[in-house]
Amino acid sequence: LNASLTLDPALRVAPVHRRTFGSFVEHMGRCVYTGIYEPDHPTADADGFRGDVLELVRELGVTTVRYPGGNFVSGYRWEDGVGPRAARPVRRDLAWHSTETNQFGLDEFVRWARRAGIEPMTAVNLGTRGIQEALDLLEYANHPGGTSLSDQRVANGAVEPHGIRMWCLGNEMDGPWQIGHKTAREYGRLAAETARAMRMAQPDLELVVCGSSGSSMPTFGAWEAEVLEQAYDAVDYVSLHAYYEEHDGDLRSFLASAVDMDHFVDSVTATADAVGARLRDRKRIMLSFDEWNVWYLSRFQAEEPREDWPVAPRVIEDRYHLADAVVVGGLLISLLRHSDRVTSASQAQLVNVIAPIMTEPGGPAWRQTVFHPFAQTARAARGQVLRVEPVSPAHETARFGDVAVVDAVATHDAETGEAAVFVVNRSVDEPVALDVDARPLGVDRVVECLTLADADHRAVNTARDPDRVAPRPGKDVRLDGGRLGVVLPPVSWTVVRMA
Ligand code: AHR
Repeated sequence: LNASLTLDPALRVAPVHRRTFGSFVEHMGRCVYTGIYEPDHPTADADGFRGDVLELVRELGVTTVRYPGGNFVSGYRWEDGVGPRAARPVRRDLAWHSTETNQFGLDEFVRWARRAGIEPMTAVNLGTRGIQEALDLLEYANHPGGTSLSDQRVANGAVEPHGIRMWCLGNEMDGPWQIGHKTAREYGRLAAETARAMRMAQPDLELVVCGSSGSSMPTFGAWEAEVLEQAYDAVDYVSLHAYYEEHDGDLRSFLASAVDMDHFVDSVTATADAVGARLRDRKRIMLSFDEWNVWYLSRFQAEEPREDWPVAPRVIEDRYHLADAVVVGGLLISLLRHSDRVTSASQAQLVNVIAPIMTEPGGPAWRQTVFHPFAQTARAARGQVLRVEPVSPAHETARFGDVAVVDAVATHDAETGEAAVFVVNRSVDEPVALDVDARPLGVDRVVECLTLADADHRAVNTARDPDRVAPRPGKDVRLDGGRLGVVLPPVSWTVVRMA
């Protein structure tokens, strides 16, 4: 197969937003405990943070981390997680049917995030709680001092305010599984009033209102419209969540998951803009895609409900294969392509729970296959996102009809002159010879070409064989007179950096 595209620095979409490369740490399964925090681990520092995980987090290039949930936040009392550890209460976590020891809380999270070089982002509980508790948390976290709650933070060892800018107003409040689930009318009103009160305390916050927990929710669209009608003036972002999996061995449709993500983003953008038009408000609501990934959700849903209340059990520790990583690479292409509206995103989650990084308690940490497209994209995407229109053969998919075999996006940094093109080949059995007209960029050498592919689409990385799937130098790559040629193996993700 053959495909082609042109890279033109004049066709700018928007700047690459660093927050596109965000992630998510929830008190769920082993994401926190034996994930980022394990005081007895040989690599743990004085705060109990795993050093091997911190190193991988830095390598992953994560920029922002959303915390502490997720479904967990809708039953969470943030006060339980601060102050002397011995006095912190042990509670039941109803969302994941487990026991929460509260040995890790907000202050530890912010300290960990600073150590990882990450911007912390948080969420208030609008499931079992409301405006007052949100204000208390904000005072504790961000007020410099001299008030009851900010002085408590100082007494707990965090002298400087945490300075958290981005706050989620609850989590997936449209989902019947959510503790304190609400109708759009109920939630929209609560979110709007919480946002207004929080802004009275700190006007420069960036506030995220809950959109739908997925585009297949029966209330999708109507939910966003109703919630934004009420909260438009008070918030900056609406959230989107999407998880993808292969259904019934339909690899072609699965590889085209980004088609669904594109449609989802376009639909929410249109809905938000329609509300803005109706309200005669010229402000643009941005999109925070604050949960996205591959997740074999149907396997999880088929499991027997848990009856015990374990501490940090193994929950949704999906093992990702090569094809999953190609899908993740494709989803990153979709997010970047929408950088004019998607200005923040969080892959869910960071460690152990549907995660790019896996650990064993007391043992090693390693990179799952999906680690690689994320790390390489976070590293190479710089400057401006360029609009790219591949000329590609199409193939039929059961879920999305005719879909282009090749999908791509590119970035260009005018300061350094470097450009990067990110591309997936969604054919399950045929290589594609890609021709890129890069003459408008004035580039003359390939800095790096990396491809993620494997003869076995189901190959995984394990503790014993952690580098079975990893990016390798791309095949038959040449740049001649501004024209780049590269061969894309079937089921592959590739990045080419040029200067
Ligand atoms: O990321 C796992 C769960 O997925 C989150 O807790 C929830 O928000 C979503 O349904």
